[in-house]
Parts: sequence; structure tokens; C-alpha cells
Amino acid sequence: MKKNIVLIGFMGSGKSAIAIQLGKTLGRKVIEMDELVLIKSGRSTINEIFSKDKELIFREIEIAVAKKLRDKTNSVISTGGGVVMNKIILDYLKKNGIIVFLATPFDEIVKRIGKAADRPLFNDIIKAKKLFKFRKVLYEQYADTIIRTKNRSINEITLEIIERTRSYGG
Ligand code: S3P
Repeated sequence: MKKNIVLIGFMGSGKSAIAIQLGKTLGRKVIEMDELVLIKSGRSTINEIFSKDKELIFREIEIAVAKKLRDKTNSVISTGGGVVMNKIILDYLKKNGIIVFLATPFDEIVKRIGKAADRPLFNDIIKAKKLFKFRKVLYEQYADTIIRTKNRSINEITLEIIERTRSYGG
């Protein structure tokens, strides 16, 4: 049994792209939490959940999805940037997972995601920056290991994650 590799980090830190690459390289299943939340919500976009049901409902669904994932193994899990807002989610994901924080500076994130029409919490850059500062502490607190992503290729980051997580049973 291999532990899951669980990617956490702010929007635009590369979780989804790196999860795909990790999945390919390790031959593991890739689970995208946002996709499961979307299916469970019955809505057609994340934006629609935020505008019609509001963030609280989104977070409740996120908790339910994490609970369902807690017994999974051998997978790569890409989380939504807000999972750290509910400790219970991290408790579920830590049960069989190694938590990898993809650390990316805010200015780099802004470059990567720009206007981000599909990211409801990135419409207002001042608010997004506040959120970033608040969450950075939480990502660091929950992480088993921290990987810097600035000026590095997806491949390079993937290989470093594989190397680092090996000692944790990943
Ligand atoms: C969110 C991040 C998004 C998505 C939702 C909320 C957040 O995921 O879950 O818009 O609170 O940071 P990504 O981190 O994949 O953009």
C-alpha cells in the first residue's frame, strides 16, 4: 500500500498540472477534488456553486468529498486552494496521505492566473492577497513537506516530490 500524495497550495500554484504529471510518472490514479465537489453539487461550474449556493455550501461539500476519500490509497490528490479553511479536511486527507505544499509567491500566482474568471475568490486582487497571507501559514502548518515552484518546470517539481515523499511511504 502506498500513501496518497496530496497537493495543497493557493489557487494557481500548479496543483492540477503537477498532479497529472505525478499520476503519469508514478502510474497512479489522479483525483481532482474540485471535480468531485462539482459533481456532488449538481451545478455546472464552481462559480455557479459560489453564486447560487454560496461559499459555505461549497465548503460543506468539500468536507463530504474529503471524508469519502479518507480510505483511499495509491493515489495523487489535487485539492482546492481552500481545503485548509476546515481542519477536518486535512485530518481526512492526512489519514493515508502525505501533504505536499506547493509554495508559490503571490506575484507569480497573479502572473499565472491573471483575471481568472473561473475562480470566484480571485476576482478582487486585494482580497485575494489577504487570503493568500492568511492561508500561507495554514499550508505551512499542515504540510509534511514544502516544495518551491517558482521558475521551475513541472517535470522538475514532479521529480522532487517523488524523491521527497518516498521517505514518508509515498
Ligand atoms: C478555492 C480554490 C479553487 C476552488 C474554489 C475555491 C479557494 O481551487 O476550489 O474556487 O478557496 O482557494 P483551485 O485552488 O484549484 O483554484
